[in-house]
Amino acid sequence: MAWTMPESERAFHEELDAENINPLWVMHANPPERPKLAPYVWRWERMRELAMHAGDLPSLRGQGFRRALTMRNPGLKNPQAGATKTMSAAVQIVWPGEIAEAHRHTAAAIRFVIEGEGAFTVQGGERFRMEEGDLTLTPSWVWHDHNNPQDKPVIWLDCLDAPMVGYLDAMFQEPYPEDVQPVTKPNGYTNAAIGNGLMRANLKDVVGGTLPITYKWNDAYGALLGYGEEDPHDGVVMEYANPVTGGHSMPTLALKLQRLAPNSHGEAHRHTSSVVYHAAKGEGYSVIDGKRLDWAKGDTFVLPSWAVHEHGTDSSDDAVLFSMSDLPLVEAMGLYREEARPRQEVTGAIG
Ligand SMILES: [Fe+2]
Ligand SMILES: [Fe+2]
Repeated sequence: MAWTMPESERAFHEELDAENINPLWVMHANPPERPKLAPYVWRWERMRELAMHAGDLPSLRGQGFRRALTMRNPGLKNPQAGATKTMSAAVQIVWPGEIAEAHRHTAAAIRFVIEGEGAFTVQGGERFRMEEGDLTLTPSWVWHDHNNPQDKPVIWLDCLDAPMVGYLDAMFQEPYPEDVQPVTKPNGYTNAAIGNGLMRANLKDVVGGTLPITYKWNDAYGALLGYGEEDPHDGVVMEYANPVTGGHSMPTLALKLQRLAPNSHGEAHRHTSSVVYHAAKGEGYSVIDGKRLDWAKGDTFVLPSWAVHEHGTDSSDDAVLFSMSDLPLVEAMGLYREEARPRQEVTGAIG
């Protein structure tokens, strides 16, 4: 279909425009250019350097700020953009002796520790200690504050579903009346309440079908090694289970860990969910829409929805990717589709 506006109809179209009405035939004839999510990588070496600098900024000292460096997807051409259209990702540093003040918000958050140990997040009155490779969930509307009593900084990947919550105008945020919330539960309370993941939770105060919970690195990585069965695209891949529902990790986010065997190369596919990947162990590469992205431990990168991709490693050691995707949202809307594709010819590089 082709359409050009005859001069005799110009006045009518100007009338429509003046009244904030877009005729569909004009939009079909001249589709507006929409910003497109870009595959992109934020390198750990540089992010660590910047985080160390941010950690020691005198203007932030003692004020309870969160020293988070939020990754902005350059393809979206929006100064407020997240890592993807649906998810935000940041590298956050908690300086020795520092407290990030207690607050809560409707956006759900996750933390994956990149470096350091001994910091803890207090959530719903319970202390969750975090070490390298651990994943902590902060469900919607749960009070949380961070505390680093150690003498070394702790750095984690800090991700939220904030862009999708904001899109729905459902973002609410509230500061806690004090800097920190009181600890009212013994350490390990939530994990004990679910039999360390074996039993279904029978807790009265579960909000929105998600618990504040920490998944330990050794348990998660051990699960991949123990299972061992390979998916054609993702190596050995498993999702962090939601012990309340048995479903996706969180109502809006699917959190997965995948192990690529030494010297392996997966098949290509594409799907309608965007993904934030974080290299948790080793080194490898992903080919995204024909461009090769080499990654190593600590790097964070974005896979746009429907981009063809395949993962591999040339290393004689295994590689592990942690990932966060908007799959639960896409599925709930009935929009998930996936397609196997032939291996790609590499025509360039990303990063
Ligand atoms: Fe928060
Ligand atoms: Fe995939």
